[in-house]
Amino acid sequence: MILTLKNSEYNFNKKKKIIVSYLVSGKGSNFQAVAEKIINGYIKADNGVVISSSSNALALEKSEKLGIKSIVINPENFKSKIDHETEIIKTLEFYKTDLIVTAGYMRILTPLFVNRYKFRIINIHPSLLPSFTGKNAQQQALDYGVRFTGCTSHFIDEGTDTGPIILQSPVEIKSDDNINTLSARILKEEHKILTESVKLFCENKLILKNNRVIIKT
Ligand code: GRF
Repeated sequence: MILTLKNSEYNFNKKKKIIVSYLVSGKGSNFQAVAEKIINGYIKADNGVVISSSSNALALEKSEKLGIKSIVINPENFKSKIDHETEIIKTLEFYKTDLIVTAGYMRILTPLFVNRYKFRIINIHPSLLPSFTGKNAQQQALDYGVRFTGCTSHFIDEGTDTGPIILQSPVEIKSDDNINTLSARILKEEHKILTESVKLFCENKLILKNNRVIIKT
């Protein structure tokens, strides 16, 4: 993946087929949504590797079922965050990763990692950013009493949930919603916009102009 600076626009030039790898910590439904679309050819890319921060992550079972290689790189086995990420980078490089999808990855990446993969890490967050960053975004939306929340796919930068936004999808909060009903409706939208974002990236249709992601038509 080469990032070229062209007339003050960043252009995502793609090589023939992008290799997509995943960082996960939990259920892995977002990973599954993207990986299946790669397998069925909707997204023209190859699945690389699934890296889990936990050996209990359901995402590991999902990757096995889909025939995608997975590995547990548990932060507890490393002296420092940097050592942990160095191992992750080694694995990503071994699988020749072009694009990283953080799909329910519950750890903050260091600036070192983020800058190494600048504009090559896509995250999915369950709120309409910049509202409700960090953990429990759905509960934050319920507690605040907003009428609409939703989800956002974005490139990761050095901040928490602050990078350039790719796609967003609004979800209305109903008066009888609780955390489970609301999270389930948001999750469905997460799958859609994350999949579309990866597809757009792989089709070389994303351009970064200042902090805005422009979608080529
Ligand atoms: C999703 O809402 C995701 O945005 C959040 O964790 C939830 C579970 O995601 N970070 P997944 O099923 O593990 O992809």
